[in-house]
This record gives sequence, C-alpha cells and structure tokens, in this order.
Amino acid sequence: MIKLHDLYFKPFISEQEIDAAVQKMVDAIALELGDEIPVFIGVLNGSFMLVSDFVKKYPKPCEVTFIKLASYEGVKSTEDIQRLIGLTQDLTGRTVVILEDIIDSGNTLEEVHRIFKNENVKQLLIATLFYKPEAYNKDFKIHYVGMEIPNKFIVGYGLDYDGLGRDLPDVYQLKTTQHMTNLVLFGPPGAGKGTQANFLKEKYDLVHISTGDVFRYNIKNETALGMLAKSFMDKGELVPDQVTIDMLNKEVEKNADAKGFIFDGFPRTNAQAKALDELMDSKDSQINAMVALEVDDEVLVQRLLERGKTSGRSDDADEGIIRNRIKEYYTKTAILKEFYSDQNKYFGVDGVGSVEDITVRLSAVIDKL
Ligand code: IMP
Ligand code: MG
Repeated sequence: MIKLHDLYFKPFISEQEIDAAVQKMVDAIALELGDEIPVFIGVLNGSFMLVSDFVKKYPKPCEVTFIKLASYEGVKSTEDIQRLIGLTQDLTGRTVVILEDIIDSGNTLEEVHRIFKNENVKQLLIATLFYKPEAYNKDFKIHYVGMEIPNKFIVGYGLDYDGLGRDLPDVYQLKTTQHMTNLVLFGPPGAGKGTQANFLKEKYDLVHISTGDVFRYNIKNETALGMLAKSFMDKGELVPDQVTIDMLNKEVEKNADAKGFIFDGFPRTNAQAKALDELMDSKDSQINAMVALEVDDEVLVQRLLERGKTSGRSDDADEGIIRNRIKEYYTKTAILKEFYSDQNKYFGVDGVGSVEDITVRLSAVIDKL
C-alpha cells in the first residue's frame, strides 16, 4: 500500500504486466504499419513513460514527438482541456499514432481530434495503454488498447494524483476504503474491556462492534440473518461462522465512513480470524492489531468478586466459576494470540492500574499503528 498526499493506493498492475501490454501494442502497430515510418505522438504529461518504453520496443524506424494537454483535477476528469503545447511540425501526408497513457472520459481524445482536424494527415490512429470502457462517453474509434481497466482512479507508470506517483514503475489503484484503524479487542473477564472500548471509540472515532450486541440486535429485529442464526441456536447447534461474518459485514457497511472498528467478541477461532481478514480485505482494509488487556488472575478474581457484590450477576459471585471463566479465556485466546503474533499484530497491554493509566498505554500502541 502507498500514500500520495491524502489518499491510499493499493498495487494493481505490475511492471511485468505493463511491459507485456506495451509489447502487445507494439506488435499490433508494427504489423499494421509495415515499412511506413510513423510519427508517434505522446500526450504529455502522462504518456512519457509509455512513449519511452514503446519506441524502444518498436522494431522499425519511427519519429517521436509530443503534445501537452491538461484536463485532470485531483481524481476527476474535467471538460475543460488546456492546450499547453501544440503541434510543432508539419504532418501532412503522414501516418500519425497518438500514444495515450489512459483514456477515461474521452475529453482529451476529443481535443486531440480537434487539433488534427485541419492537419491533412494520411491517417490518425489512436493507441492507449489503459482504457476505462465504463467512463468513455465519446464515439471516436480507439484503434489499439493495451489493457481495459475498471472505472477506478489509478497512479503510476506516468499517471499521477496531483503531481505524485508518475515515477512508479507499477500501477496502483485508489483504495475504495481509505485508511482505517481496525482493532480486535481482547481481555479476560474483569479486565475492563468495556470501559476501554468506550474510551477508544471516542478518542479515535471508531465504531465498536460487539458480536454479542450484533447477535441480539439481529435476533430481536428478526432480520434474515437473525432468523437464520436463531434456527441453528434453536436446534442447539453452533451458528456457522459465515452467518456471523455476514452480520459483521452488515455492521461494517452501515458504517462505511468510519475511521475504523473495534471488534469485540470475535474472532474466537483461527477460522474466524481468517474469515475476518478476508472480510476486511474485501473492504480494501485490514485488521491492524489485536490488543489484549493483560491482568493477573488474582487481580481479576478480586475485581469480579467486588463487582459481584453490587452487580447481582450470579457468575460474578462464585470464585470457582470466575476462575473457570478466566481459564477458558486463556485457552481460547492462546490460538488467536499466536495467529496475530505471526503477523506481528499482537499487542499485550498491562491492564492493572487506574483507568487513565491503562488508556495511556492503549493509546501508545494505537498511535504507532
Ligand atoms: P479523459 O480526458 O477523461 O479521457 O482523461 C484523460 C486524461 O485524464 C489522461 O491523460 C490522464 O492525464 C487523466 N486520467 C484519467 N484517468 C486517470 C487515472 O485513473 N489516473 C490518473 N490520471 C487519469
Ligand atoms: Mg494523458
């Protein structure tokens, strides 16, 4: 992943694939033109890299020149094309091949045709390395296309975002989701997960997704996924991971503008952790960290027994039950600790101390992500 100005881009087309596409264009054009000496005209700025690679591969004599047009602002094509450098030589009777880096709306191409209207060339051929069929809204024939691409903004290999990215040998695509901080929050019962989740949510503008809450919400509101989940629960079966993932997906999509998510109560198994990675990947995002609050067993037991005195929760009153819950937590999370450690994403945070102390420790981890 790379960042240019304020935006994030992900790898899209490799140098090798570009090279193959350029070669394909060279072969097709050389075959058609035979011994005729063409004038290749690059459209600056974007086409400089293509033109250089293209003419190096071109097997026969040729001429090369440039025109310079400008149309793009940021990540949007504009109608208003500026002619910065026009034709500087007489092209009467010549075969001209326009070499474009990319054809998007076709506005630039329209301007090219305007430039050539009174030039009396023998023929005007249009070749473009990248072509976005969904964005193109003109009728001009495009004779050679290196690669058709979806209607997404790209950078690299001559193409820029506000001046940056032209120098990259590979092509990158604008990420549909911008940078997010996604956390998997863990902590044994009594570690203060809820308190800290609330704080992190505020401080980092994150959305807290508690799997338990998501389940209760879907079942209570009788959503399709809620009913499906319930049908398994009624039979005494485990809800398949895919159902849970689908519910989480809905929550993520509901909050498409979020700066990130705190996942709480999920994943619990290796398979779930993998499924969550896939979900985030499908959103052009990722889990950045598993943050686990670490608290000594004896401290937990004392805290929970204290809580039991006032909360009335029966499972907080019995020391045996408490110790079992803690043990179960460690057995289950050990696998996940390993899963995220392998990706260098596990962060244990000392969960003993005042609420403020712990939030400072958590912030130190998150600020570095
Ligand atoms: P059109 O006039 O909309 O066809 O766009 C042509 C020009 O817009 C290209 O020559 C590029 O300079 C720029 N452009 C179009 N799409 C992209 C893109 O995805 N990334 C970077 N520049 C682009
Ligand atoms: Mg261009």
